[in-house]
Amino acid sequence: MEEITKHYAKGDITVVWKPEQCIHSTVCWKGLNEVFNPKKRPWIDMEGANLERIKGQVSHCPSGALSYIVNNKTVSEDSVATEEVISAEAMKNGPLIVYGNITVKDSKGTIVKKNKVTAFCRCGASSNKPFCDGTHIKIGFRDE
Ligand code: SF4
Ligand code: FES
Repeated sequence: MEEITKHYAKGDITVVWKPEQCIHSTVCWKGLNEVFNPKKRPWIDMEGANLERIKGQVSHCPSGALSYIVNNKTVSEDSVATEEVISAEAMKNGPLIVYGNITVKDSKGTIVKKNKVTAFCRCGASSNKPFCDGTHIKIGFRDE
């Protein structure tokens, strides 16, 4: 079955959202709620902020569910600004988000390169460990 892809355009920029890849990390709603608001329809409002802020927020999506296209050309990972300092943040009732370009070795010894933002499972129920796949929502994972 073909993956669902939604497009939200403004000027030269089109934000692309792939709902099946979204892990509900809430990074986008908490970071730029004027644009990314799951309570509204459509949930992405391109009029809510300027394009620089929208592009910045999209580049923090840890799952790759959000991306953007400039003048019909997909922006490559390398051309998006990345953080130089690596930092980590535990999302309430959700994954551990690591900001920065990192290399991850999984329990089978497979090495994966991750750019910009990576979500690691904290609930233990992900089918894609060590990464979060959104299952924490289904199982109702809570920090306390
Ligand atoms: S995974 Fe991406 S699209 Fe989904 S809520 Fe998080 S930041 Fe938003
Ligand atoms: S924290 Fe998201 S699946 Fe475990």
